[in-house]
Amino acid sequence: MVIAGPPEYMGKRRLFILAIFVCLFAFSCGRELMAEHKHADNHLTAYNHSLATILVEYASAVYMSDLTELFTWTCSRCSGLTAGFDIIELLVDVEHCLQSFVGVAKDLNAIVIAFRGTQEHRSKLVSIQNWIEDLYWKQLDINYPGMPDAMVHHGFYSAYHNTTIRPGILNAVERAKQYYGDLNIIVTGHSMGGAMAAFCGLDLVVNTEAKNVQVMTFGQPRVGNAAFASYYSQLVPNTIRVTNDHDIVPHLPPYYRYFPQKTYHHFPREVWLHNIGVGSLVYEVEKVCDGSGEDPDCCRSVAGNSIADHLVYFGVELMCETWRSCGIVMDSLAKEYGKMDVKGNIVFSRDSILRMKTETNTGGDRM
Ligand SMILES: *[C@@H]1O[C@H](CO)[C@@H](O)[C@H](O)[C@H]1NC(C)=O
Ligand SMILES: *[C@@H]1O[C@H](CO)[C@@H](O)[C@H](O)[C@H]1NC(C)=O
Repeated sequence: MVIAGPPEYMGKRRLFILAIFVCLFAFSCGRELMAEHKHADNHLTAYNHSLATILVEYASAVYMSDLTELFTWTCSRCSGLTAGFDIIELLVDVEHCLQSFVGVAKDLNAIVIAFRGTQEHRSKLVSIQNWIEDLYWKQLDINYPGMPDAMVHHGFYSAYHNTTIRPGILNAVERAKQYYGDLNIIVTGHSMGGAMAAFCGLDLVVNTEAKNVQVMTFGQPRVGNAAFASYYSQLVPNTIRVTNDHDIVPHLPPYYRYFPQKTYHHFPREVWLHNIGVGSLVYEVEKVCDGSGEDPDCCRSVAGNSIADHLVYFGVELMCETWRSCGIVMDSLAKEYGKMDVKGNIVFSRDSILRMKTETNTGGDRM
């Protein structure tokens, strides 16, 4: 909890404000307890604040455009709580302007997979505003395979499932497990990257039978209907969807209460970051929401009207340093590790380094 504001209040006024806060807290705690009972959501994960502050740094780092710095984990966002990360694979789908990495965070005892949010379209410059405007009109236009009645948006689904990203990720996870043992898997991402993180987490559970998959997204849009949300939360219960104050993106594509069969529906569990306060005395609060996915007392209780709230979570910037390009910055070191296909998509792989490690351990050559 962050407490900001001047301490110089007159006695009476301070008491009055304190009384208001005691009421506010009592009220919100009471509501939370009621929500816990209302929904049988005990299978859902507990929220861990310190883990969130670590993962938001991974979700921020994946936006970096200097691929060598990212691949060697020396970028300006590659320090702090993510220092020492062992990156295994960096994937750049130039064709669809997507970026993602897989690596091992030894302090978390986990494989971490991170997805970048929307940056720019290959053919025309699409600013974040345009991207957000488009979100209003996204249709639930394909069935999620193998899940009757579960509908999702084709574009979000394809960004993960029908690009060079998915095969690269699955391959890297497999290699990470071979070399580091059966670690937990944590998938994260911001904005569109959050949507991809959700599809990736589900894919790992359903199609690779991975256990201990955890998903935490920041400012993620809705991706499917209520049937999809229900399958998702059964299969990936260890999911936290962090939303920030008036961030517009978690409100999109819209949720229409009166058309339950037709509408988008978030999966649980939301954690809503917001400020409450009087005058200059402002508290930042994290509200752990109910198991419905669409808790009316969380971000839905306010208007989603802020792009600024979309771009900074926990004080960490979630965007590229520049809006101008989806450009690729590569030097000789990057070229040494990078493999490019005919469409210009790139995979940076630590195969050679990992192979050296195992050769000394087991004498095997697994690649
Ligand atoms: C929360 O996550 C941090 C970082 O992974 C970990 O050290 C801590 O033990 C976790 N706390 C709980 C209560 O699980
Ligand atoms: C996958 O992408 C290809 C080419 O971009 C396209 O022709 C195909 O219809 C897509 N498939 C799905 C299921 O989206």
